[in-house]
Amino acid sequence: MKEIIEVKRGAGGLSRIVVGDVIGELRSYLPQRRVIVVTDANVHRRYKPIIDSFEHIIIGMGETNKTLYTVEKIYDELIALGADRECFILGFGGGIVTDVTGFVASTYMRGLHFGFVATTLLAQVDASVGGKNGVNVEGYKNMVGVFNQPEFVLCDTSLLKTLPEREFRAGLAEIIKAGIIADPTLFSLFEDHALDEFRQDGALLTRIITASIRVKAQIVEADEREAGVRKKLNLGHTFAHAIEKCSSEFLHGEAVAIGTVMMAGVSVRLGTLTEDEAARISRVIAKMGLPTESGVDIKRLLKALKLDKKRDADQISLVLVHRIGSCEIRKTSFADLEKLFV
Ligand SMILES: NC(=O)c1ccc[n+]([C@@H]2O[C@H](COP(=O)([O-])OP(=O)(O)OC[C@H]3O[C@@H](n4cnc5c(N)ncnc54)[C@H](O)[C@@H]3O)[C@@H](O)[C@H]2O)c1
Ligand SMILES: [Zn+2]
Repeated sequence: MKEIIEVKRGAGGLSRIVVGDVIGELRSYLPQRRVIVVTDANVHRRYKPIIDSFEHIIIGMGETNKTLYTVEKIYDELIALGADRECFILGFGGGIVTDVTGFVASTYMRGLHFGFVATTLLAQVDASVGGKNGVNVEGYKNMVGVFNQPEFVLCDTSLLKTLPEREFRAGLAEIIKAGIIADPTLFSLFEDHALDEFRQDGALLTRIITASIRVKAQIVEADEREAGVRKKLNLGHTFAHAIEKCSSEFLHGEAVAIGTVMMAGVSVRLGTLTEDEAARISRVIAKMGLPTESGVDIKRLLKALKLDKKRDADQISLVLVHRIGSCEIRKTSFADLEKLFV
């Protein structure tokens, strides 16, 4: 089974995202030129035969490696390998690998062609889709980066079998988010199926991954550079980033799960969402084994939000839920947001 989603790129042409049994056909997606793979040690160990059949560069694992230092080390390796503008760069891994690879490929020698094999659920539905490639600076997330979509993204569901259960659940959080933003049918699949079914049923998994990518792809096509509607994809992320700043306990997707529950609460308080719909959201998130509370004091979270370098002066863009499948972006003053929690 295979689904193909094509996204128009601002730079021209199409970015093709393929979901399903596709890794065996990797070579057919690659151009007839020199290919250099970027991956991390973990992914390399698990997919050695595929990765070792290409020249490859291995980066360190985890968010602390999504830095300009790692980027520079890859540039050094590319120079040592004699990589030129004819090379094709293939990021093979989770969101850390795809973010770093997309940034390197977009900047090395003013840009090389590149593609991704996304190996985590989060990378398949989110990180590798939409062309945002960036790195963290001084602990601030994604402070430096580019908008540039890959030529292709391969999302093979069989690669997710080796993914730790916790990472899998974290990826589900972004899919649930996509359902809340724009696809009530996708959301209701989480009401109808248990966590194990998503892990074990390849067709069901392909269905939710494809639906989630379609939500993101449609929004990205309308607003590649996040001037407006793309901000909807940040549902739950305002608080998620604050939670990630205040606690190292949570994976990104887990923080998004909590942030989404918090935004549903804010939406109820602002009168855009009914309590019943908000309860559906928390129920589904809990059912998928995701946290619904951070345990971090709200005052600390609000302080972290205030210090967020990427925020406009004293305004904040909130993504409010109207009902499952429909959201709005509303600029609110920080003071007004704070008032909701006193
Ligand atoms: N660019 C975007 O639009 C965008 C969107 C969402 C998230 N992101 C970024 O994505 C990053 C998180 O991505 P992630 O959750 O994929 O993290 P990750 O890349 O760190 O992967 C998580 C862990 O799983 C391991 N792993 C990867 N594939 C595996 C597999 N198939 N089997 C077993 N283990 C595997 C990795 O080695 C790593 O230890 C964050 O930095 C986030 O900011 C970017
Ligand atoms: Zn996210």
